[in-house]
Amino acid sequence: MIRFLGRSPALRRNSLFVESVRGVVTSHCPDSNTDAVKEEAKPFFSVPGPKKLPVIGNLHLFSRFGPYTFERLYDAYADLYEKHGPIVRLDVGIKMLLLFRPEDIKKLFVNEKHPQRPLFEALKHYRLKRKDVYSCAGMITENGEEWWRIRKPIQFIMNPAFPKIYFPHHAQIADDLVRFIDQKRDAQGIVPDFLKVLYRFTEEAVGLLCFGKRLGLLSLNSGTDAEADFSKQLTQASEDTLKSLADSLLEFPWWKIFPTSTYKTLVRTQDFFQSFAAKCIKEAELKLKDPAYKDDGSLELLRRLFEDETVKPTDISLLMTELFAAGIDTTGNTIGFALYNLAKNPDVQEKLYRHIQKGVSDVLTADSLYEVRYLRACILESHRVSPATGSIARILTEPKILSGYQIPENVLCIGMQPIICRQEQHFDDPMDFRPERWLNEDHSKMEKKYHPYTLTPFSTGRRKCVGFRIAEQEINICVLKIIQNFRVEYDGPEIGAIMRLSFIPDKPLNLKFIPRK
Ligand code: HEM
Repeated sequence: MIRFLGRSPALRRNSLFVESVRGVVTSHCPDSNTDAVKEEAKPFFSVPGPKKLPVIGNLHLFSRFGPYTFERLYDAYADLYEKHGPIVRLDVGIKMLLLFRPEDIKKLFVNEKHPQRPLFEALKHYRLKRKDVYSCAGMITENGEEWWRIRKPIQFIMNPAFPKIYFPHHAQIADDLVRFIDQKRDAQGIVPDFLKVLYRFTEEAVGLLCFGKRLGLLSLNSGTDAEADFSKQLTQASEDTLKSLADSLLEFPWWKIFPTSTYKTLVRTQDFFQSFAAKCIKEAELKLKDPAYKDDGSLELLRRLFEDETVKPTDISLLMTELFAAGIDTTGNTIGFALYNLAKNPDVQEKLYRHIQKGVSDVLTADSLYEVRYLRACILESHRVSPATGSIARILTEPKILSGYQIPENVLCIGMQPIICRQEQHFDDPMDFRPERWLNEDHSKMEKKYHPYTLTPFSTGRRKCVGFRIAEQEINICVLKIIQNFRVEYDGPEIGAIMRLSFIPDKPLNLKFIPRK
């Protein structure tokens, strides 16, 4: 069992990633916004929720004197569900709703033009101050028309054909990872804290996409001192960015008045990534102009952006900085959880190995990878039981009827998929890791038998994760190559998840790799 940070008995029962979440009796949920339904709908103030205190609303629940912690946020949400039902109102500085019905979550995506999300205000504050290097606050950090202006030029990376251009490079990086694992195994075959190694893989893979070059993080000889130094700096800057972004959400925004230590770290890491991106982009531009350059596809993303006259040079470095930062941890955590689930379910792992042997001939191609349906089902099942991202959040831009209540605009609505995914009313035996549930009987195709809004790891609609196809390719290649080469085992205590910016394992991922003959 994982270590519990929650303090009430209800929290102990519900700790996420170890137990299923009990269903509560739910009332009739009107599913449309017709006039009759609107008239019947109950007022917003009557949405159930915990008792509020004057001035601070429900903030005390998450303070040091309250029952909940940010690290175990989803234990808190599961507890609130059990106490109040499938729609819960919280007042935490803003009006917020937790949605536990897939039908309600679906409605968040109706009439989306410029979907609004809560932003990283500290990051926005900094970028808007540095107009010399940033054209705007960024895709992750903007809402409204400015968000669409910066996002539109890279929509093409969501085209199914696009990641295939990077397939040979991603396959090469996965081969390097396999060699790296082989070398780093200790006498028992364990690679301690394997998540850190996975971040090297994802940094290499997303680095190649954004800058068209290898970063050397998986090289077996440490290279020159300068290279080793840079690799350390890069890994540290990625870690510091994630931590400072998460901290900036939790701390009082003193940074508006003076630079706090969190804000200073954020600025330092942003400057590091921005100047690194600008240098790589300059190099890429020169390479593409060189008649002797042999096109191997690695500069395709940058080439298309250079050719787009609507994109300013400062947009390009901002976009690359954002893609790079967003592409590291969620992808690494997803692969880490998938390998953990396969290690804990050796029968599934062996079945996957057999499917890989049967489905992939000597040379792995993008098409043969796609044909290993059991692999896709394993990854989907791992997203379900061990999601890397939390919930999808939307600030309503128009009033909606949710669960029979009238919800005004500007309310922050959060879909509770990580909890829905472990409810028996949606998934039979929800705690079993059973990839077969996503396949038809003879595994010849993926089945769509669940409500589509129970599991949306990359979100959906206009603001869906722009890197989702790249991420899927990286994850599939990486898991396939590892299982092809090693039997993966795990002997330690059960691993749960804690919330940082995304979900991360709550204990070191000390996986054991036994080479297959
Ligand atoms: C398993 C890996 C990943 C998961 C689970 C994931 C999930 C998500 C989710 C849930 C969102 C929020 C979408 C919304 O609000 O509707 C998002 C946004 C985003 N993701 Fe990913 N992501 C992954 C990998 C990647 C990769 C590899 C990249 C870059 C190549 C990337 C780039 C982005 C960007 C830039 C956004 C912001 C998009 C916007 O606001 O318009 N992600 N991702």
